[in-house]
Amino acid sequence: MSAAPSTPLGRAAEHTLAVDGVTLGYGDRTVIEGFDLPVPAGQITCIVGANACGKSTLLRAMARLLAPRSGQVLLDGKAVHRLPTKQVARTLGLLPQSPLAPEGIVVGDLVARGRHPHQRVLARWSAEDEAAVAGALEVTETAELADRPVDELSGGQRQRVWIAMALAQQTDLLLLDEPTTFLDVSHQVDVLDLLTELNRERGTTIVMVLHDLNLAARYADHLVAVCEGRLHAAGEPAEVLTAEVVQEVFGMRSRIITDPVSGKPLVLPIGRHHAVDAG
Ligand SMILES: Nc1ncnc2c1ncn2[C@@H]1O[C@H](COP(=O)(O)OP(=O)(O)OP(=O)(O)O)[C@@H](O)[C@H]1O
Ligand SMILES: [Mg+2]
Repeated sequence: MSAAPSTPLGRAAEHTLAVDGVTLGYGDRTVIEGFDLPVPAGQITCIVGANACGKSTLLRAMARLLAPRSGQVLLDGKAVHRLPTKQVARTLGLLPQSPLAPEGIVVGDLVARGRHPHQRVLARWSAEDEAAVAGALEVTETAELADRPVDELSGGQRQRVWIAMALAQQTDLLLLDEPTTFLDVSHQVDVLDLLTELNRERGTTIVMVLHDLNLAARYADHLVAVCEGRLHAAGEPAEVLTAEVVQEVFGMRSRIITDPVSGKPLVLPIGRHHAVDAG
């Protein structure tokens, strides 16, 4: 994947996003309880936690797709659920964990849908829209797939197309639920490098759920560990990623060493079969 779009996107405006005492659930099941999370503006926040602990539920509420039972999500100090849909969509983009493409849609048309929040009723498609879509296809290396139906792509190609759609939206805040799913190791690093460039060069605030603790530690400015619907620990990766936290959050023994490449913590699971020295 190539570097972030060379076409100037302009500097992202500073927006504040905060989860304030939020409780979320489905039917009579409570999934997230009393959750507080101020999102540092202009930084990369990574959320980690065990399956079913509520990460996607939290992200959906932050993107206004799920209304809190109590508490609120504040965007620039205002309850996000009371803001107009289009205003939220111009500020904040979400790449869901399992997005669904309309049947038969081709890649170029799907990525173009990322521009909907920017379109006015009369001036439907602008040069700016065209440039945003072309730039998103280029940096995700999906331009050559533009005419292919999305449902005929490999899992990794499809994931890159969804990332292109999220990038085409050009929001100042970007929420991504497991953006590296289905990607081979080199494309995982490419996507995370691309998001880092978007953050460093444009100031885009990024919040993403990642399952790979080592990539999360490497790419996060701010790491958030969720355990059973509650915030367990938050801070710099080196503070959060301790063997104790890994044990508490994932119920797994591990050793933490310093990643010789990045200087960040590196988690080595111990498991039951391969440890020379369980430590
Ligand atoms: N639409 C829904 N209706 C009912 N229950 C749901 C719904 N979506 C999620 N849940 C339940 O809420 C809990 C948290 O789900 P969520 O998807 O937020 O977990 P997660 O932390 O993202 O997990 P994973 O790592 O597997 O993606 C789970 O018990 C799940 O079964
Ligand atoms: Mg999830």
